[in-house]
Amino acid sequence: MMLDTATTRTAPSRTAPIFELIEVEKVFQVRPPGRRFTREKVGLRALDGVRLSVEKGASLALVGESGSGKSTLLRMVAGLDAPSGGRALYHGRPIREVRAEGPGFARDVAMVYQDARGSLDPRMTVGALIAEPLRHFGIVPKAQEETRVGELLERVGLPADAAKRYPSGLSGGQVRRVAIARALASEPSVLVADEAVSGLDVSTQAQLLTLLRKLQQEMGITLVFITHDLGVASYLCEQIAIMYLGRIVETGPTDAVLNAPAHPYAAALRGAAPRFFEPIPEPLPGEIPSPLDLPKGCRFSTRCPMAQDDCRTRDPQLGTLGAGRAVACLHPLAPSDT
Ligand SMILES: Nc1ncnc2c1ncn2[C@@H]1O[C@H](COP(=O)(O)OP(=O)(O)OP(=O)(O)O)[C@@H](O)[C@H]1O
Ligand code: SF4
Ligand SMILES: [Mg+2]
Repeated sequence: MMLDTATTRTAPSRTAPIFELIEVEKVFQVRPPGRRFTREKVGLRALDGVRLSVEKGASLALVGESGSGKSTLLRMVAGLDAPSGGRALYHGRPIREVRAEGPGFARDVAMVYQDARGSLDPRMTVGALIAEPLRHFGIVPKAQEETRVGELLERVGLPADAAKRYPSGLSGGQVRRVAIARALASEPSVLVADEAVSGLDVSTQAQLLTLLRKLQQEMGITLVFITHDLGVASYLCEQIAIMYLGRIVETGPTDAVLNAPAHPYAAALRGAAPRFFEPIPEPLPGEIPSPLDLPKGCRFSTRCPMAQDDCRTRDPQLGTLGAGRAVACLHPLAPSDT
């Protein structure tokens, strides 16, 4: 894959965090498995004691197998869902409270959804879709809308005449570009993106990654980015958080974590993706336990090649490891183990 690697990723400044999640829980009420017609509901813990801090200008990749809670965490950061427990803060205040105060938060924190096509109204042209946030947030006077739409299309690598087309006439890659252009229209300082480049052909993916990295570096946009691809995480994001069954199990500088993972799950992901810019094959060895019936002790113990007796009784919490790293494991790997 050809990528613009001329510049290095921006290191986060050491300031107060933009986002802070403190022991965040998210419980969904769902029907018990195999009982579709019952009225009874049980609690599915999609996020379980998540602690995370994102500083201004940071770039953070969220990585983990399907169902690990990545989208749930992102939706919470974007203020779309409230935590069931704990605190989710934006500049020190509850995200939901700030979001309810007016359009300021939604303008500042833009989201690219996992289902980009589903997030766009099929009855609207691309031009109208991109003009909508311009108008809603009063970004430019009406007379300048068309020019600004054209600029945004150009920025994401779409021709000006794409403005007249409808989402149904666009390829998957073009739809993602429209979703990114729409997110950028409000001139946000934070972009949260759920698999914004997955499933695209290699050259489209490279173009969008180069664009996102430029935005991060030249405009200082804070980026929280879900990906299944460790190469994408490494190219785009200074920090990485690896999730497993609703928890962050390892976090730290991306290259340090990927070069010498301390958590056996992080090591398994790394081992499963020996070549960068190829998505992690799913599933990894061993069955993922049901979030409705988590194993006792460490939730990774049923799949962990390093598990010891205490792993089946003690639930490891995220603890600092030094050099900005943290791991939730009773027996973390030493750099020489990986
Ligand atoms: N609205 C919902 N109602 C009930 N359960 C939900 C809801 N949203 C997510 N879940 C459950 O919460 C858990 C985490 O889901 P989430 O979508 O956050 O995972 P993910 O890491 O984004 O997965 P993927 O990689 O497949 O997108 C899963 O068990 C999922 O089934
Ligand atoms: S606590 Fe034990 S089971 Fe869990 S990841 Fe660490 S070594 Fe493996
Ligand atoms: Mg998801």
